[in-house]
Amino acid sequence: MFYYVALNVSDKRRTTPKMITMANQLLLGDCLEKMNQIADSTVDLIYLDPPFFTERKHKLKNRQRTKEFSFDDIWKQESSYAEFLHRRILKMRTLLKDTGSIFVHCDKMANHIVRGVLDDVFGSDCFQSEIIWQYKRWSNAKKGLLPSHQNIYFYSKTQDFTFNKVFMPYSEATNLDQILQRRTRDKHNKSIYARDDKGNIQQADAKQGVPLSDVWDIPYLNPKAKERVGYPTQKPLLLLERIIDLVTNENDLVLDPFCGSGTTCVAASLTNRKYIGIDQSEDAVQLSQARLDNPIKTESTLMKKGRKAFENANVDALQCLVGIEYNPVHRNQGIDAILVEHHDGTPVLVKIQKDSETLQQARQLLRNAMKVKASKMGFLIQTQPAQEEHKVDPKPYTYKQDPPDQDVSATIHIVETVELSIKRSINNFL
Ligand SMILES: C[S@@+](CC[C@H](N)C(=O)[O-])C[C@H]1O[C@@H](n2cnc3c(N)ncnc32)[C@H](O)[C@@H]1O
Repeated sequence: MFYYVALNVSDKRRTTPKMITMANQLLLGDCLEKMNQIADSTVDLIYLDPPFFTERKHKLKNRQRTKEFSFDDIWKQESSYAEFLHRRILKMRTLLKDTGSIFVHCDKMANHIVRGVLDDVFGSDCFQSEIIWQYKRWSNAKKGLLPSHQNIYFYSKTQDFTFNKVFMPYSEATNLDQILQRRTRDKHNKSIYARDDKGNIQQADAKQGVPLSDVWDIPYLNPKAKERVGYPTQKPLLLLERIIDLVTNENDLVLDPFCGSGTTCVAASLTNRKYIGIDQSEDAVQLSQARLDNPIKTESTLMKKGRKAFENANVDALQCLVGIEYNPVHRNQGIDAILVEHHDGTPVLVKIQKDSETLQQARQLLRNAMKVKASKMGFLIQTQPAQEEHKVDPKPYTYKQDPPDQDVSATIHIVETVELSIKRSINNFL
């Protein structure tokens, strides 16, 4: 059920004749009023990340902790929020070209309201996708499921909208062999590999990958990311670049009527599009200008290598735990896994010796981790022969040496990998 005030047709169609197409500008003020400066049917993409109906004031300090940015998101009732959005989205529709699209960012607090408003203004036949932006989060203070996604609604103005197909790499689980061989049918209509005159299997034409789905795995900016400017709810440039690439071409015009720290404008500028950013906060407009003057984008290792590679950096080494139930541990130099089974009421930790570690270093890192976790049993998987230690260039770890009064009840078992064991037998080294 929606409560916004219906606007009459003259409001929907209002234009100012002498307006010219503007571009690469930041406007300070309520977007409802400022959008009147933009000529109708001139914008290719509108992305908006309005307040999410969280019923709180969002505040955050910049990196140097010299300035606090904030914006209000307090409405008291759904109807006020719905009406606020409805009036502005109605205006946005008039600014879009017939080939243009709108992407509206929200989360579980108001996605039902946003979808209703968009259906009302654009029509459900112009609904294209609900994009789920998912990211990893590690803690949840509240009872319930950990929220780790937001919603972005994609509507086009007409059915004739600009859309650039984007392809993603195949997943590790894809049987590439099957995809890369040309197939045909035999006389029993069974699918078989196509062969040439000499009986060789024919290769299929190069495949572009998998068409982009509506679930986007893009990391949230981590607290130390250089790209982070300290604006509350700042979105990653990677997310905006993907949206821009999908529905616009170079020199197209992108509008963000709630631009905050200017992420959309920076993404548009980096991808050779024109932009208009609007925000009612002076701080936000100044910050957006500063970012446009000196854009900084965090390169995401995760995006380059894929989440699997990132999360399971030691997946090869962990193969030696096949048959044992364990939870992998990421980004901890002291441990790679914790066994599901406990020993003497304490967790059993596993560390795999890295190429860059001597056995002694690896052992010490595991011992330190065991102390922190009050573990009484640890397994160190040895991957290199001990006498090779002098060949390893030890990492400059600042690890602690075992104190003399070390807890004798904590035991580290050293287990060789099968590979090392076989090599040792063949080469007969000690
Ligand atoms: C969620 S933040 C946008 C964050 C932005 N996407 C970023 O990456 O930094 C919402 C912004 O909308 C602005 N805002 C709220 N009401 C507005 C209005 N009526 N007109 C223009 N801006 C408004 C707030 O000042 C705030 O900066």
